Amino acid sequence: MTPPEYQIFSLGSNPQLATEIAQILDIELSTIDVKQFADNEIYERIHQTVRGRDVYVIQGITEPVNDNFMKLMIFIDAARRASARTINVVIPYFGYARSDRKARSREPIVARLIANMLESQGVKRVITLDLHADQVQGFFDIPVDHLISMPALGHYFYANQLLGDDLVVVAPDHASVSRARKFAKLLHAEWAVVDHRTEEKVNNKPDSVTGNVKGKRAILLDDIIDTGSSMMVASQALVAAGVTELYAVAPHAVLSDHAVSKLENSAIKRVLVTNSIEVPETKQFNKLTQISVAEPFAEAIKRVAACESIEDILKSPDNLDVKL
Ligand code: R5P
Repeated sequence: MTPPEYQIFSLGSNPQLATEIAQILDIELSTIDVKQFADNEIYERIHQTVRGRDVYVIQGITEPVNDNFMKLMIFIDAARRASARTINVVIPYFGYARSDRKARSREPIVARLIANMLESQGVKRVITLDLHADQVQGFFDIPVDHLISMPALGHYFYANQLLGDDLVVVAPDHASVSRARKFAKLLHAEWAVVDHRTEEKVNNKPDSVTGNVKGKRAILLDDIIDTGSSMMVASQALVAAGVTELYAVAPHAVLSDHAVSKLENSAIKRVLVTNSIEVPETKQFNKLTQISVAEPFAEAIKRVAACESIEDILKSPDNLDVKL
C-alpha cells in the first residue's frame, strides 16, 4: 500500500481553521489523543503510524499560550520518536514574536528561544503568517514560509468598493509604518502615521498625526490587536485630526483583556481581522469581520509537499504590481 504523501494534524488551538485547511486540501485530519491530566500535564498519542511520512501539524501559539506551545513540543517529540520523515509546523499565530530583541538590560528574547526549541527537536520547516517582525525568520536555520494576510485583508476593500481618493492607511505607531505603506500601495491610497511614543507619553495620548487625514476615510493597520489600546489611542488621535470614517485592520485578533469593549465603544466602524486566532463566541461583536486565511495556508502546504514555489501566494490578485 502506498502511504499518503503527507499527513495533517490539528492540536486544538484553532480547530475551525485546521478543518477548513484540510477541506481545501481534500484530506482528512489525522487523529490524535490530546488530554490534560488534573494537574495540567499534557498527554498525547498519535493514533496511526507516521513512520516515513511528512507530517504537518497546525497549532497556533495562542491563549492558553504556554499550554498550546507545550502541546506542539510534545507532538513533535511523539512524531520524531514515531519515525516521521519530516515534521513541519504550521503556526497561524506566532505568539511571543513581540519578544524579538533585548530592549532593556536582562531581558530574554523569547521568539529566539522558541525557534531554538522547535529546531532542537527536529522540526524541518515552519509555515506561519504575519510575524511581528520579518526578521524573526532569521532566528531559524530551517526554512520559514512566511505567509501574509495583506492580499486577503486588502481584498475586503476591493470587494466592498471601499477604494477611493479619500482613503488613507494609517500606522498606529512608528513601528508599523512599513506595513502601512505597503497596504496603502495595495489599495492605491495615501498613508500617514500616528505619533505614538509610549515611552514618552505617560498618559498614552499621541499629540499628532503625520500625513494628510482630515476629511478622509482612514484604515488603521497593526499586526496584532491585543488589549485594543493601540487601536483605541490611535483612533482618538485620528478623530481629533478630522477623519470621517475609521476601520481597524490587523491579521491577528488576540483580543485579550477589555479589547472588545474598547473597540465597541470606539469611533471605529469596522474591525477587520483574519481567523489566524479563533475568536470565541464570547468575544464576537457586531463590528468584527473575520477573513479566512485557510486558502493561503492550504496552498502553501500543497506546494511545499509538491516542492513548488509559494511566491505567488504572497501577491494580491487585486494589484499584482505591488510587492507585499
Ligand atoms: C506591538 O508591538 C504590536 O505591533 C501591536 O501594536 C500591539 O501588540 C497591540 O497591542 P494592544 O492591542 O494591546 O495595544
